[in-house]
Amino acid sequence: MNQANEKAMQAVILVGGEGTRLRPLTYGTPKPMVPIMNVPFLARTMERLYEAGIREAILAAGYMPKAIVEYFGDGERIGIKVTYAIEETPLGTAGALKNVEQHITGPFFVLNGDIFTSLDLTAMLRYHEAKGGAGVLHLIRVDDPSAFGCVVHDESGRISAFVEKPPKDQAPTDEINAGTYLLERGVLDFIPAGRPVSIERETFPEIIAKGKELYAYTTSDYWIDLGRPEQYLAAHRDVLRGTMPLAVEPGLSGEGADALRGHPGVVPPVHAGGDVVVDASARIGPNVVLGRGCSIGADATVKESVLWERVSVGAGAMIEEAIVASGATIGARARVPRGSVIGHDVEIDPDAVLEPGARVGSPQRTPG
Ligand code: GDD
Ligand code: MG
Repeated sequence: MNQANEKAMQAVILVGGEGTRLRPLTYGTPKPMVPIMNVPFLARTMERLYEAGIREAILAAGYMPKAIVEYFGDGERIGIKVTYAIEETPLGTAGALKNVEQHITGPFFVLNGDIFTSLDLTAMLRYHEAKGGAGVLHLIRVDDPSAFGCVVHDESGRISAFVEKPPKDQAPTDEINAGTYLLERGVLDFIPAGRPVSIERETFPEIIAKGKELYAYTTSDYWIDLGRPEQYLAAHRDVLRGTMPLAVEPGLSGEGADALRGHPGVVPPVHAGGDVVVDASARIGPNVVLGRGCSIGADATVKESVLWERVSVGAGAMIEEAIVASGATIGARARVPRGSVIGHDVEIDPDAVLEPGARVGSPQRTPG
């Protein structure tokens, strides 16, 4: 039994964001349920928790919680007890924790719900046990910290400053808050109740200002924030190429792999869900994920793209470096170029030529 098990650690996962940067995908699917290799991203995160011996997760949700609750239920199926706290109005990254205070029984992990990483939570727990203090933050080094929270610390790892989303030329360090924390329960005392509070901008700075210790745990793990389409595609490429360790066979993988084996137009790596139908003259790959039930017509080309379930691609259509949500139809000979993001059930007309980076889809679905 590992240490996490002995201590019956809990994890709070922050999944209340609206996922605005992933629109129109997030009009039909909340960000944590966006699929990675055809499996809702949050299910991957749950697997990581399970591997670390964590058997209780509290989901702090708000935007479209129904899809999340329907998938995980009470968590029995995945071996983790799942509790939900649904915010009527967003409480912010710290307010969301205050809101679940009554469920927290001891030190607990906090996970930003959009981080895809190979971080070993058990190793992080050991580090916290060795260091002591009010908590530990996972940090990662990035080339451009301006989209993240910079975290400054001394050689012992003790954190002295937080600078959220600095202009690139004013970033004090290349080490950023990687969105996984291990906190002592007492941290909740620093969060005022009943109003939105940001952990990055308010709570962490206040904790260190009061002389409490927070420690940095910097690793060189695979790490990506899935919040933007480019990152979402990059994550798939990294899994398909094996840069991000995930139990995926190289080359052709997934339930639909057998249907593609020996197909002259398939360039691996390609991952396919079940019931995919690919015309013998279509070209698929490299770096393509096809969701369950996709159909690809004659002479169509799909490369460097992720198609969710039941996407229909007409004859002669071309999809490149794009994301297409479930149920969408790409008309014959249509062009869906680099950076395009197509929403749920959208129909792209035959012969349509989209601009690079086009986002097609509107919030016509009833958020659940
Ligand atoms: N429950 C709840 N309530 N969750 C929220 C709320 C809220 O009001 N606001 C945001 N979240 C969730 C989001 O769903 C996401 O999983 C996580 O909190 C972080 O929010 P983002 O909106 O994705 O923040 P960010 O990516 O701009 O910045 C954060 O993550 C970076 C690492 O990716 C910060 O923590 C940065 O400091 C950090 O570097
Ligand atoms: Mg984010």
